[in-house]
Amino acid sequence: MSFYVTTPIYYVNGEPHLGHAYSTIAADILARHHRQRGEDVFFLTGTDEHGEPVAQQAEAEGVTPRELGDRLAPRFKEMAGKINASNDFFIRTTDEGHMKRVQEIVQRVYDNGHVYEGMYEGWYCPRCADFKTESEIGPDNTCPIHKIPLTRESQKNWFFSLSKFQDDLERLYEERPDFVIPEFRKNEALAFIRQGLQDVSLSRPTLKWGVPVPWDTDQVIYVWFDALLNYYTALGYGIEGEDVTEKFWPPFHILAKDILKFHAVYWPAFLMAAEIEVPKRMFIHGYLLMEGHKMSKSLGNVLDPDEVIDKFGSDALRFYCFREVSFGQDGQISPAGFESRYETELADQYGNLANRVLSMIGRYRGGVVPKAEAEATLASEFDGAPDRVRALLDDAQLTQALEEIWKLVRRLNQYVEETKPWELAKQEPGDASPGDIRCAQLDSVLYGLAEGLRVTTLLLHAYMPETTGRLLDALGETGRDLVEFGSRGGGQSLGELPPLFPKLAPA
Ligand code: MSP
Repeated sequence: MSFYVTTPIYYVNGEPHLGHAYSTIAADILARHHRQRGEDVFFLTGTDEHGEPVAQQAEAEGVTPRELGDRLAPRFKEMAGKINASNDFFIRTTDEGHMKRVQEIVQRVYDNGHVYEGMYEGWYCPRCADFKTESEIGPDNTCPIHKIPLTRESQKNWFFSLSKFQDDLERLYEERPDFVIPEFRKNEALAFIRQGLQDVSLSRPTLKWGVPVPWDTDQVIYVWFDALLNYYTALGYGIEGEDVTEKFWPPFHILAKDILKFHAVYWPAFLMAAEIEVPKRMFIHGYLLMEGHKMSKSLGNVLDPDEVIDKFGSDALRFYCFREVSFGQDGQISPAGFESRYETELADQYGNLANRVLSMIGRYRGGVVPKAEAEATLASEFDGAPDRVRALLDDAQLTQALEEIWKLVRRLNQYVEETKPWELAKQEPGDASPGDIRCAQLDSVLYGLAEGLRVTTLLLHAYMPETTGRLLDALGETGRDLVEFGSRGGGQSLGELPPLFPKLAPA
């Protein structure tokens, strides 16, 4: 089994912010989860360095686009490291390996007869690098996404015959109803297709910053085709000396709704034109909003992931994003929201549960998980949970899967309160009694708690790799996989565990 997951590649026209981190964390959770299932995983992220969005920003800063990319691409790479992304490769569209393969594929589309020369006139947003159709134009000819005036452009360039793929795309959506998820996003893409597709520019005649059109080197390939192809090119050169295209293609894409049309309409059509298999699926998520607005460079309302991570740790950030905002929907985030979730859920519910279980086993059983069986009522509530989480994550339902796991955290806390191990411990004879007469019920309760915590933590591992890794070590669990993780039967020696989520000092 192989699994190939991607994030959008981010424009190097500003510093990375939490909005970018969000998509990367989502893809990382899926990558880690699939690795835990024993699958062969390839996880790709990177930067989009060509086209107007970058060229214009470079001009504004008085540097070359390459200089801008060379300064900002490492910032995106650092961000990926800081949020603990386990990407197998970081692609830059200025990589030679990428540019060469882009040319090959564009040439193939041309040879297959899907490209022609023509004249284009329309309203254009340089930040989106996109000509807008009538329905996509905001008040007073502005871009509804960036809130900037659109420019009227008229150019002679090469066109991709998107309209020829209308029927093929409709068929694709019919045959594969979950090609685009969630469903309401699929319906949006389908409505766009059904309103009638127009051919789209494949090249830019005026811009110098990009991949040259192979048969007309005065023009560069339109940045969107250059960028989309990253998903394909990376497999050819991302792993030194090996082409892993066969092994990993087709991909599962993660992206936000702003770039739905490119991924759900242009991209599959372009792949069909190149005779390459279309993506496996794509999940379209919503926006993280700050004070009611999309976090974005142009709106200037960004939350710096570095600051959040320095204060709360990367796991807390990873958790918060998918707990607070239902993945797929838009949702508000705020520093106060972080603090509250951190305190109530991570510190009080999960961290505290971990410390309580470890310390009770330490106190009552010398730090060794008793060999026992879990009470049937508790065990039955854990049966099926891993399968439910797996099924939800098959559809990238990150928030619902996390809630399924959190039900287990709540259940374990409730179980501690119900069974009161400290009361059971009082019934034991203590040091004065001869022999090793132990309360079997306490054995069973402590074993059930250790097992429950272990399974819950394994399921949480993809979301919070660092803290769960420490807890699993302390629980004596060496494996991380979700394949051979059935009952351990007890006997593990527990280790030390400093608080996983220390309480924040009052401001
Ligand atoms: N370069 C193109 C993508 C090419 S993919 C072949 C681009 N870059 S971008 O830098 O603008 O990044 C857009 C993506 O960043 C969104 O689709 C989303 O994944 C992520 N996000 C940026 N801001 C975001 C929020 N405020 N909230 C959620 N995701 C956000 O478009």
